[in-house]
Amino acid sequence: MHQTQLRHILSVDEFSVPWLRALFALARILKEAHAHGVYSDRWALFSQLLQPAQMISFFYEESTRTRLSFEAAMRALGGTVTSTQDASRTSSIVKGESLTDSIRVIGAYGNVTVLRHPTIGAASTAASVSPIPIINAGDGAGEHPTQALLDLFTIWEHLAVDQETALTFVGDLKQGRTVHSLAKLVARLQRTDLSPITQLIFVSPAERALGTELRETLQQSGITIEFSGELNPDIVQRSSVLYMTRTQKEREPSQPAADEIILTPDLARRLASDACILHPLPRNAELPVEVDEFPQARYFEQAQNGLYVRMALLLYILRPELFTTLCRP
Ligand code: NCD
Repeated sequence: MHQTQLRHILSVDEFSVPWLRALFALARILKEAHAHGVYSDRWALFSQLLQPAQMISFFYEESTRTRLSFEAAMRALGGTVTSTQDASRTSSIVKGESLTDSIRVIGAYGNVTVLRHPTIGAASTAASVSPIPIINAGDGAGEHPTQALLDLFTIWEHLAVDQETALTFVGDLKQGRTVHSLAKLVARLQRTDLSPITQLIFVSPAERALGTELRETLQQSGITIEFSGELNPDIVQRSSVLYMTRTQKEREPSQPAADEIILTPDLARRLASDACILHPLPRNAELPVEVDEFPQARYFEQAQNGLYVRMALLLYILRPELFTTLCRP
């Protein structure tokens, strides 16, 4: 089987500024090519690039966007996909097999494994034994680094980098892994051409507040941080990006339901015209469908960007030399 250079994607901590620049440049090229249509010559240029390669998607947790966009990305580049979407029920884990044994075996069947698992650190554990690259598609309440890539890509496309701007996270900041990854990434990219964000505002019920470890990491980065228990008009007005999240009920089933913090249409009216509302989706009550009509609502475009960012990422992992060539302006 085609031997690939081993590069895992485990945490946003590994992403360098030049690498992100290259990835975003390629994602933008792919997005523009896609806009020309799937039968266009521009899109056809990419359609065979990963042709003999196989991606294994091994998902122990539910997923719609992450799994399907990774699979669509692989297929759009000519690669093939082997998929287990319900590994905690249908894979040999039910017979008592360990994650590491499964990962060792899977490595013989493909060229890259996309793994979603309910345990923090599972992707790193998998990477320590995997003969092929592991992409962390969410490890419990830990990280979701590829979601952070498409989140940041969406912000980067929409906001001018020469203004001071605030990113406000709303909802379950304790268990929401997309929040953890994006907050860390943005804090590290302050004052670079990749992120205009100079302030982070965290809005959550007390029992869903950001963990102390991440809070300290962010404080050390020097980014301005603010906390609030409510989403009030003043915060909405000051936010260039409003990042809504749902309560991760499945992670703490015994915890009584906290009051949802909702972005009502009345509140959304307070947003600046060039602000954007993001959500990793799926949404619950925190983001009413009426808000979809607002020009600032960008979450469906954000989800679509997942296709381009994941295509670029697969090209980087499976064909690093080609990735470098394709990113050159
Ligand atoms: C998120 C996840 O799985 O962490 N979804 C996603 O990947 N887009 C958010 C969530 O489940 O709430």
